[in-house]
Amino acid sequence: MQTLAGKKILLGISGGIAAYKCAELTRRLIERGAEVRVVMTNAAKEFITPLTMQAVSGHPVADSLLDPAAEASMGHIELAKWADLVLLAPATADLIARMAAGMGNDLLSTLILATDAPVAVSPAMNQQMYLNTATQENIATIERRGMHIWGPAAGEQACGDIGPGRMLEPMQLVELSEQFFQDRQVFLDKPLEGKSILISAGPTREALDPVRYITNHSSGKMGFALAAAAKQLGAHVTLVSGPVSLPTPDGVSRTNVESAIEMHKSVLDYATSHNVFISCAAVADYRPEIVADQKIKKTDDSDQMTISMVKNPDIVASVASLQKNRPFTVGFAAETQDVERYARGKLARKNLDMICANDVSVEGQGFNNNSNAITIYDKQGELELPLASKNELAKAIMMHINDRI
Ligand code: C5P
Repeated sequence: MQTLAGKKILLGISGGIAAYKCAELTRRLIERGAEVRVVMTNAAKEFITPLTMQAVSGHPVADSLLDPAAEASMGHIELAKWADLVLLAPATADLIARMAAGMGNDLLSTLILATDAPVAVSPAMNQQMYLNTATQENIATIERRGMHIWGPAAGEQACGDIGPGRMLEPMQLVELSEQFFQDRQVFLDKPLEGKSILISAGPTREALDPVRYITNHSSGKMGFALAAAAKQLGAHVTLVSGPVSLPTPDGVSRTNVESAIEMHKSVLDYATSHNVFISCAAVADYRPEIVADQKIKKTDDSDQMTISMVKNPDIVASVASLQKNRPFTVGFAAETQDVERYARGKLARKNLDMICANDVSVEGQGFNNNSNAITIYDKQGELELPLASKNELAKAIMMHINDRI
């Protein structure tokens, strides 16, 4: 099937043994309708010839920044603008380091700087090189800047080592490319255009005195990812955030709050003017009954101290019980056992339209992690979203909400 019909893929090959797989990769991409142009570093040419890549891609290979003939046909800036996707496979430790440093000291690195197309990086190197702190930091840097990291796989390596650093197989890269374009189409279609979405995120801080407070481990990452996804899907987004150290996603309007009482007020101010409310914040259930005016002093007469706590308002339940202009209301449930029973219990008790539940007792998901696994429950049934990055999950959750509103 022509799943990549009309897609322009710039394949950047750097000098690793996995470069020999690029002929196969190019053929499979073209088979699915993509147009592929190849750029090679000098080292890449030691592993696979430009002639081979020219034959399989149907176009001359670009390999020099200073080649007048190549510049006359399709110059490097033109090539950078031409691409819908830049796929770097294999991406060596050296290429990744040069990208992290923002260098443009050959044709490929210059193109990467000059393109505004998305860049997917498929690392391939010896496992020790991959695990080296410098490489790990470089990968984290380019990922933070928005590059997509595809792989590596783990297993036996050309050098005889066993570990992470194998380039993904050509068919896996083809499937990731297909998925990438499918996902991008959703963002281009902007299915949430015209909808306004209110999201609460992060922890709350419940003051004991002017310097101390009670809080929880919520990082706000899931709520911020939801806000970014909703915005990218075309919605108008308002984010009410507890204290977190995260940048506001582009185009999202943000209000900062500290305590549950403040969050309750802010959310209720906004709720009736929004189509959807997603309560992702980890709101403290209780707050100290008395907030001392001055710092509480340690006393010599007792080894114990008792804090009396009172219940906070349930924000999501307050929104769900609005009689007029009630938004479609979505809750979150972090559970450590019996996830479905507790989540469905909250769905019913708080009168929600949907609840996203996760098992926070499983290592690597939930609080303070970049990944999560979620099951969405509503009256119609359930949808399981397996372990994925919070960004990917956020998009899937927003798409599911879009189906229901
Ligand atoms: O009952 P539990 O705290 O587990 O419910 C979680 C859901 O309720 C989340 O959506 C959370 O944002 C919301 N919640 C709230 N106000 C509270 C406590 C929880 O909105 N005081």
